[in-house]
This record gives sequence, C-alpha cells and structure tokens, in this order.
Amino acid sequence: MKVLVLGGAGYIGAHAAKALARRGDQPVVFDNLSAGRREFVKWGPLVEADIRDRAALDAAFRAYRPDAVLHFAASIEVGIGEREPVAFWENNVAGSLGVLAAMQRHGCRNIVFSSTCAVYGEPEYLPLDERHARQPINTYGRTKLAVEQALEDAARAGVIDFAALRYFNASGASRDGDIGEEHEPETHLIPNALKAAAGIGGPMQVFGTNFATRDGSCVRDFIHVDDLAVGHLLALDRLAGRRESFACNLGTGQGVTVLEVLDAVGQVVGRPVPRLLAERRQGDAPELYADIGFAREALRFTPRRSSIQEIVQDAWRYHEPRFRSEAA
Ligand SMILES: NC(=O)c1ccc[n+]([C@@H]2O[C@H](COP(=O)([O-])OP(=O)(O)OC[C@H]3O[C@@H](n4cnc5c(N)ncnc54)[C@H](O)[C@@H]3O)[C@@H](O)[C@H]2O)c1
Repeated sequence: MKVLVLGGAGYIGAHAAKALARRGDQPVVFDNLSAGRREFVKWGPLVEADIRDRAALDAAFRAYRPDAVLHFAASIEVGIGEREPVAFWENNVAGSLGVLAAMQRHGCRNIVFSSTCAVYGEPEYLPLDERHARQPINTYGRTKLAVEQALEDAARAGVIDFAALRYFNASGASRDGDIGEEHEPETHLIPNALKAAAGIGGPMQVFGTNFATRDGSCVRDFIHVDDLAVGHLLALDRLAGRRESFACNLGTGQGVTVLEVLDAVGQVVGRPVPRLLAERRQGDAPELYADIGFAREALRFTPRRSSIQEIVQDAWRYHEPRFRSEAA
C-alpha cells in the first residue's frame, strides 16, 4: 500500500511511517516541518509542504497516487490553542478540509485521522467509550471534533471512508532509540520528568495532589507510540477490507497516576524526580482512561509495549544521549 503520511515528520507520524515501511508498505511523508524533524523521515520520500497548500497537495497526489492517507498534521499544544484559536482552527480544521477536498479530486477514499480523547471533555463516566458525549472543553479538542464531524458528513455522502483514532496519552519511543518525542514546547509528562530526573531544567510541577484517586494525583492512560503505530496499520487494513467508517479509542484501558509515572521515571533513571506540588489546573479531569473494547474487537488491537516501565525505558533510551550532549 502506498500511504501519504501527513505530519509524518512528527512524533507519532514518524513511528507510523516506520511501522508501514517495516511491513512492506510505502510511506510518503508530507510535512511542513513546522514541528517535525527532517531526521525523522527515513522510510520514504519527504514532500516538504503545507496541507493548506492546495497546489502542493495536488502535486503530491498526482506524483505518488496514494492508496490511503494517514493524517497527523495539526497544531497540538493546548495552551497555544487558547491564546491563538484562529490559527488553530485554520491549521487543524481548514487544513483538514483541504486534505479531504484533495482526496476527492484524486479519487483517494481512505483516511485515518489523528483524533484525541480531548473530544470527550469532562468524563461523565469511566472508562470512556466511543459512545461517550463529545463535549470538548478547549479549542484543541473542538478543532478535532469539527474534523470528526466533517469526516462523518463526507462518509455519509459516500465520498470517503475514515477511521478517527482517539488517542489517549501517546508516550515512549522507538525501541532502537532512533525516533522519539521532541515537542517544542514540550508539555508532556514523561519527557519533562526524564529531564528533571536527569538534572536538566527545574523540578516537575505536579498539578493537584488531592484528587479522589489512589494517591491523590491525576490518572491518565499512557499508550506506547509503537502500539499506536500498529493501531494505524490495523485501521488502514479494516478500511481497505470493509469500506466502513469508524471512530476508535486507542489507549490501554489502564489508568496510571502522575506520581506512579514519576516513580517509574525515578527507577529507570536511577535518581528520583525532583518535584513541586502545585494547585490543580482548571480543566484537568481527575481521571481519564479508555474503554478499548471496540479496538480489541474491531481492529484486534492489543497494546504490547505499554506498561509504564517499558514506556519510560524506551523514552529514556531515546532521551539520555540527547540530554548528555545538551548538558555537555
Ligand atoms: N501526542 C499525543 O499524546 C497526542 C494525543 C492525541 C492526539 N494527538 C494527535 O496526533 C497527531 C500527531 O501528534 P504528535 O504528538 O506527533 O505531534 P507533532 O507536532 O510531533 O507532529 C505533527 C506534525 O504535523 C506537522 N504539521 C503541522 N501542521 C502542518 C501543516 N499545516 N502542513 C504540514 N504539516 C504540518 C508538524 O510539522 C509535525 O511534524 C496530532 O494530530 C495530534 O493532535 C497526539
């Protein structure tokens, strides 16, 4: 299968491109490198362009004639979304509509879209299943919901088939340490905790220690990025075989607390994570974790590398040499 990987120079997209190549598919990365890394594109050609550029999309569809699209390209930092909502809607929503229009022009039907558990908003019950109401509480989540709705309308009209994969907390790194998580700014827990334990930067802030959870800190669902990548391959296969659109959670179904993550980081690094206990942040739900029954049944998805120990070990294997050269 030839697959156009939009945002394939980013964290999750690069892992998906690698997984595609490993099983003999042909990824073509399309990325404007606004957040992605050229050195993460190793498993196929790079088209350095923006999804909002209609001519560039047309040229890529004409040149490569992809059988399907994996669509990771987006603005992802929740805080920036609150400060710059129009830019977020422009990139995430207008950009995605341009992608759908290009797919129609070029007769490409199948798309796997990177959605998020943020489309659910405050949980009304746990674990979160795909039937949970979608009431996102921030701009980021609302842009992802808007794209899901556009996909639903296009699928209803018979124009495309889609899989909307609602990731929980993507984490970890490729086992051989060649690609990993490098967001700028980095707001994710594990890379920041590794940095703190390595003695680079300040201590970790733990937001909220009096939630009604087993140790008072928030519970989240961490899924190894390689498991996520496999989820994309399975979603592509289901779309190709069935011509039936679907939305699907990708997590582990197991909640891990923030303090448990810090403990795992301390054990792997061999030094405790320096921490500051801080007030709760507005909008942080006490617990978020997935019901992955549908992923198990429809995709035959099983998380294989997503114990918190494995996730942290793989992330550390990626980051350690980079921190060492940063500190030198
Ligand atoms: N990281 C997570 O935990 C997480 C959780 C849920 C959903 N997601 C979604 O998964 C996707 C990938 O996330 P990530 O963590 O790999 O982010 P990332 O920032 O590492 O990757 C996004 C990639 O898209 C590219 N891009 C952005 N706008 C573009 C545009 N207009 N044209 C072309 N390329 C563009 C960036 O250069 C980058 O390479 C995103 O859509 C994100 O919303 C991520």
